[in-house]
Amino acid sequence: MTIRHFKNGDEQKCESLLMDSFSWYLKLEGSEWILSKLSSESILSQSREGLTLVAEEDGLIVGFVHMSTMDYGVGYISVIGVSPQSQGKNIGAKLLKRIEREGRNKKLRKIWLMVSHSNTGAINFYLRNGYSVDGVIRDFTLEGLHEMIMSKHL
Ligand SMILES: CC(C)(COP(=O)(O)OP(=O)(O)OC[C@H]1O[C@@H](n2cnc3c(N)ncnc32)[C@H](O)[C@@H]1OP(=O)(O)O)[C@@H](O)C(=O)NCCC(=O)NCCS
Repeated sequence: MTIRHFKNGDEQKCESLLMDSFSWYLKLEGSEWILSKLSSESILSQSREGLTLVAEEDGLIVGFVHMSTMDYGVGYISVIGVSPQSQGKNIGAKLLKRIEREGRNKKLRKIWLMVSHSNTGAINFYLRNGYSVDGVIRDFTLEGLHEMIMSKHL
């Protein structure tokens, strides 16, 4: 498994991967808004700013992470996903470590993200990777779904 920068032409494979890894979210009522965000067009346009990494195994893209960077030294992870067949194999942890390393090289001091309160697997994943909970925004991306704000100093 290798981790590398996103390149033009990866967007369709990344769309398929993200649609699979966010299938749990797409089952929730009112979640259709995320479809355009996970689309290949959106992935390509987001990749023009900040940092986008993919995890590749045997020519297949099995992991994706995008981070926007702010002028004041903070990065925001807008999306991270690993294909369902490849979850639990440390690929997510490796993507985080690499994006943190690249963030440090860009003189970022902190990374933050939002994770839904019901996504307990992902919350544990971030806790184990050194992120802590800063707060919660209630009824944010959907009514009844609360977003945990998590961050880590680099
Ligand atoms: C969260 C996610 C990126 C973690 O990636 P990963 O490669 O599975 O993570 P790792 O292998 O490094 O760590 C696995 C740990 O994450 C947690 N986890 C979260 N979702 C999991 C899943 N579906 N399968 C297995 N482990 C999962 C477990 O606590 C697991 O801990 P363990 O190793 O003690 O069993 C990945 O599970 C995923 O893509 N989830 C769906 C998309 C999503 O919800 N993204 C986060 C939005 S904020």
